[in-house]
Amino acid sequence: MEFCNLKGKTILVTGASSGIGRQSAIKVSQQGAKLIVTGRDEKRTAETLKMLTGTNHLSFTADLLTEQEMDSLVAKLPALDGVVHCAGIVGPTPVKFIRKENIEKLLKINFEVPVLLTSKVLLMKKVADNASIVFLSTVATQMPYFGGALYNSSKSAIESYSKTVALELVKRGIRSNCLSPGLVNTPLIKKPVTDGQMEIVDESLGRYLKKYPMGIGEPEDVANAIVFFLSDESRWISGTNLTMGGVLQ
Ligand SMILES: NC(=O)c1ccc[n+]([C@@H]2O[C@H](COP(=O)([O-])OP(=O)(O)OC[C@H]3O[C@@H](n4cnc5c(N)ncnc54)[C@H](OP(=O)(O)O)[C@@H]3O)[C@@H](O)[C@H]2O)c1
Repeated sequence: MEFCNLKGKTILVTGASSGIGRQSAIKVSQQGAKLIVTGRDEKRTAETLKMLTGTNHLSFTADLLTEQEMDSLVAKLPALDGVVHCAGIVGPTPVKFIRKENIEKLLKINFEVPVLLTSKVLLMKKVADNASIVFLSTVATQMPYFGGALYNSSKSAIESYSKTVALELVKRGIRSNCLSPGLVNTPLIKKPVTDGQMEIVDESLGRYLKKYPMGIGEPEDVANAIVFFLSDESRWISGTNLTMGGVLQ
């Protein structure tokens, strides 16, 4: 049997309109799964749908910050064998400039959204026995960087949350794991931040690159690990957090 075969599985990927989410959806479809891809931007989410291998995939546009849009997405979902929570943002803010609105913004999309979506798919009985749930954290929870207090805190929270999900769902064979990549070459690390926060500019990016003797990652590097965590080959792994990025310095 082909390693990490996902034939017969139905997988939901959030944040599928860009970066790691898009590449994960592509890889997961290449392994034979049926995909439900969701993103906020209609055009880019539809583009992802076209990039998938195989047929019968579905795409839904939703701003997951709006509970009504999340509910309508959940209502349309079939039974899932896997959920990959890729939707997320960065918002670099030095500690002394953190305001209530920065906290709300970062924690909402990076923590509240995956937590609420998980509750809703479970309550609506959309998650099959032996399914796999994958959350995206960051290596920065272990290696802080300037301006990363809120982003890293939101991701530390999701790491901790994922372990409890693993505990509560183990009786149904449902697994929950986190991936913590280092820098990955996606639009996320290049987006200009316009609301008074720091920008990740080329100069600071150059400084970070020195920490990566194996270079920064490509979305495919993370997508490969996601395929493994969704597959039956990882059936004995739950409650873990996989650090990715090589030997960080
Ligand atoms: N890139 C890295 O270096 C890195 C490293 C470690 C962890 N991560 C994590 O990996 C995940 C994916 O990051 P990425 O690099 O692929 O970022 P990306 O290319 O910027 O993609 C982020 C995705 O999140 C979606 N999203 C943002 N706000 C949303 C909302 N309100 N409702 C629905 N979808 C929303 C975006 O949708 P639209 O584009 O349609 O708005 C997009 O599809 C994130 O959780 C990130 O924290 C990234």
